[in-house]
Amino acid sequence: MTGHLIFENVTRRFGSFTAVSDVTLEIQKGECFSLLGPSGCGKTTLLRMAAGFEKPDSGRILLNGKDITALPPDKRPVNTVFQNYALFPHLTVRQNIAFGPKIAKWSKAETGREVDRMLNLVDLTAHADKKPAQLSGGQKQRVAIARALVNKPEVLLLDEPLAALDLKLRQRLLVELDAIHDEVGITFIYVTHDQGEAMSFSDRIAVMNKGKIVQTGPPAEIYETPRSSFVAAFIGDTNFIDGKIIEGTGQAFSRCEVEGLGIISVDNDQPVKTGDKVYLSLRPEKILLSSLKPSAAPLENIISGKVEDVIYFGSHTRYWVRCGDWRICAEVQHRNFLLDEKPPTWNDEVWLRWHANDAFLLDQYREEDEALLTLPETP
Ligand SMILES: Nc1ncnc2c1ncn2[C@@H]1O[C@H](COP(=O)(O)OP(=O)(O)OP(=O)(O)O)[C@@H](O)[C@H]1O
Ligand SMILES: [Mg+2]
Repeated sequence: MTGHLIFENVTRRFGSFTAVSDVTLEIQKGECFSLLGPSGCGKTTLLRMAAGFEKPDSGRILLNGKDITALPPDKRPVNTVFQNYALFPHLTVRQNIAFGPKIAKWSKAETGREVDRMLNLVDLTAHADKKPAQLSGGQKQRVAIARALVNKPEVLLLDEPLAALDLKLRQRLLVELDAIHDEVGITFIYVTHDQGEAMSFSDRIAVMNKGKIVQTGPPAEIYETPRSSFVAAFIGDTNFIDGKIIEGTGQAFSRCEVEGLGIISVDNDQPVKTGDKVYLSLRPEKILLSSLKPSAAPLENIISGKVEDVIYFGSHTRYWVRCGDWRICAEVQHRNFLLDEKPPTWNDEVWLRWHANDAFLLDQYREEDEALLTLPETP
């Protein structure tokens, strides 16, 4: 492996509980990499091992090809930004940022120059002489980022740095963080349980569940081709449909019988054969919903149903449609909402259409994951 930061079969236990289980992960130089997963899945523990605050029970951590597993935190070119800022309350913004350089005994001139550069980078020059208590949450977090970056780490670890902030501020700081990453060009590892943050910010994402990494890839790949029911449901909303392959053609598409729904075409993301039981994920936004029966094109699935619930979201509307034994969630984007034909409403007969390509077969479905799934919210 040639990555910048590498976890090699890393395991960490607390008593009999395994918090991080045999994780192997390779992060490239300059990459903006996210660890995403539900609460308690081991994200912070993995990050703390990269920082040196926690030691693996087994496995190794390498930086630039060098084994750093035994190095104490202050000997690693790695800095961490925590959720709760951890600023020194009695020091000003400038003194907080200058803390690392002071410990490292930089010259006064260099410290002054670098602190000014950081104040400028995080847009806090006008607040340099304030104490943390006089700052907003977003400003405090920018001080924490500057304080970490001034040390010129090779890797910046960010543990849910925006979690304490409100949605608008989180979105704005994420854009700023992205610009900072572009500017400083160092490796970022960003921990979050917010899939939106991870999707919009990362070059690649590792999805974690119960101490293990279950899938790694660029955001679009994780969203469009999740390999398990857990990932499909954790990243965005989806309809799960189970069925049986009745015509495994060995080619790109198969026919699948879904009890209480009918026969549909499915894309063979996984090798399947006649008789296989399969699980299918169909995202709400992939379904075209209309009041008029659409004409069928090859490999398109068309089913009819009755609208049971409607929720208006401003930019789109979500419909829950009763189709045989199934309740399927479909999303309609509002391009010309008010100009279009009258939108469907409760009890209307509607048609759902999707291309076989737009649903995918999952290679694993585990009952135990069910409790963690965030299915499309039903009113
Ligand atoms: N020092 C510790 N002693 C005992 N158990 C611990 C310790 N640190 C973490 N754990 C346990 O390990 C598991 C993983 O914790 P971790 O903090 O890594 O989760 P996380 O993914 O960061 O969750 P969150 O999103 O809530 O921050 C949890 O079940 C936690 O209770
Ligand atoms: Mg955590």
